[in-house]
Amino acid sequence: MLRTSFGSRLVSLRYFATCARGLEPLLADELADLGGRQVEPGRGGVEFRGDLALLYRANLGVRTAVRILRPILSATTRTPDELYDAVRSVDWSAYMTPDHTLAVDCNVRDSQITHSLYASRRVKDAICDQFRERCGRRPSVDAERPMVGFNLHIYRNEAVLSLDSSGESLHKRGYRPVQTRAPLNEALAAALILRTGYHGERAFADPLCGGGTLCIEAAWIALRRAPGLTRKHFGFMGWPDYNVRLFAEVRDELRSRSRRDVEFPIVGADQRADAIEFATGNARNAGVGHIIDWQVSQLHDWQPPAGPGVVICNPPYGERIGDVKELMGYYRQMGQVFRERCAGWDCWVFTSNDQLAEAVDIEPAGSIPYFNGKIPCRLWHYLP
Ligand SMILES: C[S@@+](CC[C@H](N)C(=O)[O-])C[C@H]1O[C@@H](n2cnc3c(N)ncnc32)[C@H](O)[C@@H]1O
Repeated sequence: MLRTSFGSRLVSLRYFATCARGLEPLLADELADLGGRQVEPGRGGVEFRGDLALLYRANLGVRTAVRILRPILSATTRTPDELYDAVRSVDWSAYMTPDHTLAVDCNVRDSQITHSLYASRRVKDAICDQFRERCGRRPSVDAERPMVGFNLHIYRNEAVLSLDSSGESLHKRGYRPVQTRAPLNEALAAALILRTGYHGERAFADPLCGGGTLCIEAAWIALRRAPGLTRKHFGFMGWPDYNVRLFAEVRDELRSRSRRDVEFPIVGADQRADAIEFATGNARNAGVGHIIDWQVSQLHDWQPPAGPGVVICNPPYGERIGDVKELMGYYRQMGQVFRERCAGWDCWVFTSNDQLAEAVDIEPAGSIPYFNGKIPCRLWHYLP
């Protein structure tokens, strides 16, 4: 990373993968498994080092990240003008040409610069002014799909400007075209499953599956299928150093690691026939229609497949659907189902409401804090 006149330092091929808070240790394990070096979990993401092949592999292969950034500049900036000067001090011809389009995405927290749109504009001006002065032409802006996307992060007056190698958020796998009621973000779903220790070596069931996100992510984990394999576009594809052949090699290598089938059942159930219809379509889109067994079933009638295995669910918890008081009886019923039909299984419940988790009425083996968007939640572990 290059520190500017405020103190400069040049590094190459150091990356920062961003994720939802709480997922850092899981993301660090994923990056290490994919071949990342010097993997260090931080706040809201994980730093790591690697070559271009690793950058491609990480974009294709991580399940729990939002995006992967390549930090270029780090500087203390208290005013938009200081930010402008810092950005001007980088030689941008190393990263793009005036024929590339650009866009700057910015988030600011606890800093003297407060206006993120204005900060983005100053960064864009600094880059474009440098090109105009040096070669008489400047890059134009493409807010939708820039060839070179920048990410500006300012926290406590420390600005980090990075190239965004991912583009659209990596959690958008492409198998879930329409929003269902209260769906789980795919990256969070994958993280919850990885946290249970499931890797396909046991049965897996979600008795409240809604659009089926947990089952589909579980199927991909069991198949060792990289989540980015069918994605058409990544941010790095617009960069001057994009190596099409290397990307194809990395993608083929990951594809060849996928298994064709799973050994143990993966089952999703929901009381709503329309949810199951939707989940079935999503699974087909994800290429796992042949693997997951879907059932329309009320929780009180539900029977797990041959086990033992992992039961995980994301029941209504009153923040979005339902009302807490009404839900107490429902969580009690869930506890009863676990005790009566899931002895020997690892049962996990993801909820924002500790009172509801208590209503399950099984002594929890533990609970892990996560965020579902902005809602603080816990993943409760029961061993009935
Ligand atoms: C929060 S949603 C699950 C969302 C899902 N994880 C996803 O990503 O799409 C909860 C689901 O529980 C289902 N549900 C609620 N009460 C139920 C019951 N008694 N029996 C079976 N399913 C029920 C709802 O129909 C809803 O689809």
